[in-house]
Amino acid sequence: MPEIYLYNIAATLKEVGLERAQSLLDSGEKEQVDKIKAESRLNEFVLGRYLLKKRLSEQTGQPAETLVLQKRAYGKLYLEGNPCFFNLSHSGNYLVVAISQKDEIGVDIEHVTRRSTHYTDIAQRYFTQAEGHAIKDAPSSEQSILFHEVWTKKEAVLKAAGIGLSGSLDAFNALETHPSTPIELLIKSAENAAMPEKHYAFHLKHWQFNDPNQTPVYLSASVCNGQVLPNFILHETEGLGLRAAS
Ligand SMILES: CC(C)(COP(=O)(O)OP(=O)(O)OC[C@H]1O[C@@H](n2cnc3c(N)ncnc32)[C@H](O)[C@@H]1OP(=O)(O)O)[C@@H](O)C(=O)NCCC(=O)NCCS
Repeated sequence: MPEIYLYNIAATLKEVGLERAQSLLDSGEKEQVDKIKAESRLNEFVLGRYLLKKRLSEQTGQPAETLVLQKRAYGKLYLEGNPCFFNLSHSGNYLVVAISQKDEIGVDIEHVTRRSTHYTDIAQRYFTQAEGHAIKDAPSSEQSILFHEVWTKKEAVLKAAGIGLSGSLDAFNALETHPSTPIELLIKSAENAAMPEKHYAFHLKHWQFNDPNQTPVYLSASVCNGQVLPNFILHETEGLGLRAAS
């Protein structure tokens, strides 16, 4: 069963401590950290690696200190020689770790702390025509909600495929997706060594909630799964009252 772990970055960092989180970085990750200038990016990177290794250690039975994360083309992380699939995402004060034993998994979170006025322009330029029209025609109070639902669903699918935003944002209509109707996408082998070139079916799940400051958070997860509808398990410690939107 795919498992999704949602963390509040500030609260978790206070609990774990930056020094303890940094103790799990390997030499390559320490080099990456040395190049990071913004404190928020440093915190999300260090905590992300710490929480990912902790969760992967539980899954694999290997000590977190011994886990070495490698990068595929386009940047998706994997564990050499271990068939455990995982992904992570961070935005604003939230961080998500997603783990699946069986299938490729992708996750995307967007914590909207500042509203943009460009949702309709971006949607019309990069999304499908139907999505672009739906967002443009929606009441202005709903445009941001629809935009982020579409955006996180697309990113979750493209991250499961391992291609991220080098993949196309208009490959499927995210507003017509349903948990029981997988999205069919052709993945080219050069893009992800773990997925030979063929059509894959991606299952999606989407959640929305407001943080304690009433700023909206959107979360989507996707697993590449041929037949069985996966039951995503969401772990959240903050009592945020997440509601599954679709
Ligand atoms: C993956 C991507 C969509 C992430 O965008 P984002 O919204 O800014 O960030 P998120 O917080 O949702 O996700 C970031 C995490 O996704 C993971 N990630 C990176 N590349 C990925 C990929 N191709 N597929 C899946 N996951 C990826 C990483 O673990 C990263 O976290 P980290 O930098 O702390 O390790 C974007 O970086 C991308 O499109 N990358 C691929 C495109 C490319 O060719 N990049 C060149 C680098 S090799």
